Amino acid sequence: MGADLSTRAVGVRELMDDPSADPGMLERTYRRFGAVNAVVSRPGSVYRGDVRPRARRRRALGGAPVRILDVGAGGGDLCRALAVRLRRDRLDAEITALDVDPRAVAWASAHDGGAGAVYRCASSSDLVRAGERFDIVLSNHVLHHLDGAGLAGMLEDTRRLVPEDGVVAHHDIARSRLASAAFAAGTWPFSGNLLAGSFIRADGLTSIRRSYTAAELAAAAPPGWVVRRGFPSRLQLRWEPADAAG
Ligand SMILES: C[S@@+](CC[C@H](N)C(=O)[O-])C[C@H]1O[C@@H](n2cnc3c(N)ncnc32)[C@H](O)[C@@H]1O
Repeated sequence: MGADLSTRAVGVRELMDDPSADPGMLERTYRRFGAVNAVVSRPGSVYRGDVRPRARRRRALGGAPVRILDVGAGGGDLCRALAVRLRRDRLDAEITALDVDPRAVAWASAHDGGAGAVYRCASSSDLVRAGERFDIVLSNHVLHHLDGAGLAGMLEDTRRLVPEDGVVAHHDIARSRLASAAFAAGTWPFSGNLLAGSFIRADGLTSIRRSYTAAELAAAAPPGWVVRRGFPSRLQLRWEPADAAG
C-alpha cells in the first residue's frame, strides 16, 4: 500500500535536512538537483514568465540590473539556469542565492559555474531586517519544508522584500497520488546510476507527502496571494500587484 496522501505528512523529515546527513550523499544530492529540476521545475518557464520581461524592461529604461532572490537555493541550480539564459539574451541581473543551511551555501558557492551569483547563508527575515529589496523573489521546493508558522513568516518576509511593482513566486510540487506515482516511476530507472548515493529519490517522495494541494495552499496564504497550477503537478504561490489588487 502506498503512503497516505490525504493530509500533509509534516512529521516526516527529509533526509537532507538532518544536520548529521552523510556529506557525500548530500553533495551528490546538490549535484543532481539540476538534472531533476530541469525536468520537474522547468526553469525556462520561470525565466520567460517572470525574469526576462522585467530584465528587458529595466534595460529599456536604462535602470540598474534587476535584483533576483532565490530563497532556499539549495545547490544553486535555479540561479545558474537563470544566469545562463540572461547571458544568452544579453540581459543584466544581480542574483542572490539564499539558504539557511551552511552546507548548501558552501556547495553552491563552490559550484557557481560562472553564474556570478551572490551566496548568502541567512534567512528571509535577516534580509528584511537589513532593509534589502529585490525585484523578483523566487523559491523552488521550499514551501513544503515549512510548518504553518514557517510558511506565514516566509510569505510575510518575501512580500516585504519586493517593491510594489515586484513579484514573488514560490514554486513547489502539488501533493497527489499521480505526482507520487510519476516521481517513483520516473526516478526508478536512475536509482542505481544517476541518482545513486544521493537523497533525491527518498527525499523527493517525502517532499510530495509534505507538499500542499492547491486548495490547502490557497487556504493557508493571506489575501493578495494567488495559487496557480502548472504541469507536471506543480503549484505556484504568487504575489504581484495585479493579483494583489484583484
Ligand atoms: C529541497 S531543497 C530545494 C533547493 C532548491 N531550491 C532546488 O529546487 O533544488 C530546500 C532548501 O530550502 C532550504 N530552506 C528550508 N527552509 C528555509 C528557509 N526558511 N529559508 C531559506 N531556506 C530554507 C533548505 O536548507 C534546502 O536547501
